[in-house]
Amino acid sequence: MSKTLIKTFAPKLIAWHANSGRSGLPWQGNRDPYAVWVSEIMLQQTQVATVLERYPRFMKRFPTVKKLAAAKIDDVLAEWAGLGYYSRARNLHACAKQVMSEFAGSFPSDPSLLEQLKGIGRSTAGAIAAFAFHERAPILDANVKRIIARLFAIEGVIQDKAVSDNLWSLATDLLPSNSGDMPVYTQALMDFGATWCTSRKPVCLDSEKRCPFARDCQANLSGQALLFPKKTVKIKSPEFDCNMLLIRCGNSVLLQKRPDKAIWGGLWSLPESSWSARELSSKSSDLNLKEFLASELPKESLAQLMKVCKGIKKTNEIKHVFTHRRLWMHIWQTSSPTEFQFLNSDLKWVPLAQLGRYGLPQPIKVLLQGLNLVRGGDLKS
Ligand code: ADE
Repeated sequence: MSKTLIKTFAPKLIAWHANSGRSGLPWQGNRDPYAVWVSEIMLQQTQVATVLERYPRFMKRFPTVKKLAAAKIDDVLAEWAGLGYYSRARNLHACAKQVMSEFAGSFPSDPSLLEQLKGIGRSTAGAIAAFAFHERAPILDANVKRIIARLFAIEGVIQDKAVSDNLWSLATDLLPSNSGDMPVYTQALMDFGATWCTSRKPVCLDSEKRCPFARDCQANLSGQALLFPKKTVKIKSPEFDCNMLLIRCGNSVLLQKRPDKAIWGGLWSLPESSWSARELSSKSSDLNLKEFLASELPKESLAQLMKVCKGIKKTNEIKHVFTHRRLWMHIWQTSSPTEFQFLNSDLKWVPLAQLGRYGLPQPIKVLLQGLNLVRGGDLKS
């Protein structure tokens, strides 16, 4: 490892930022940990241009951690609408409550404590600690991993624990010695990865701009910038299909409690057929209601339903990715004129407005939350 590079990296990067980094963004130069935290979470999976528009709005609606913690989750989700990755909004709300109850309303400055909060990973904890508290804490998001893997020509895939540990250790070694430099250094690192040391077109391969680390970077010196970091060979996980039944009665839907031992065990979901490998999937868009229901619903419920439900139609196809498999959920909709009661208690009519009281699998929750915006009883096709 180059001792010179370790010493000169931070000052060079900070000098680079003065000329080529991003500045004047609304979340920069703010030491309020709440404001820093909200911006970092919003920036995680959303483009800077979108955050520029939505961040001030969110801060106006929820100006303090206290106000966010006291808000209803539905209001937080509504404010987050359109930004995607809604678990971020749910985690923001849960984290705000945690800060109120466990830290008396003040964010801790220690990155290892920040990391214990809901939705804050090690790199985000480092960013908050650096921006808000000037802590000498490293960040290591995908862009920073790439920069370091190139600088030191790190062999091995970054998902490997040993490689990841090495990257964290190098990220720590590269930090500026003066903690007052932490905000500009951290911002510079993010900006350098996002705009200069990019994945496909790093400036070292472009004759117009001169990378400040051209003579230090091992990957560049061997003309192999694009080969770092090493990519994992992705094995495609198997795909499965299942059919799910969405029966609406006015503003209610029929939910079924999943068996404890199944995937999503104990959660409330739509009645469904068993999963089958992709090739066996039903390709038609019309389905015999009786055939479908016979697969899963108890016989007495089936008889009850058959009397009243008519006109079943496939309205949605949702892909859900698990760690080791992908599931295609085919959603079939029909409506029932009455909310008849079932003999077995794992079936229940739930008003869409009360979905928040039930634990639902994430994709089903998103689907039904979307339905809540549609007039009750209509068959959406
Ligand atoms: N992505 C995550 N944090 C960021 C920040 N502070 N500025 C720009 N992009 C980011």
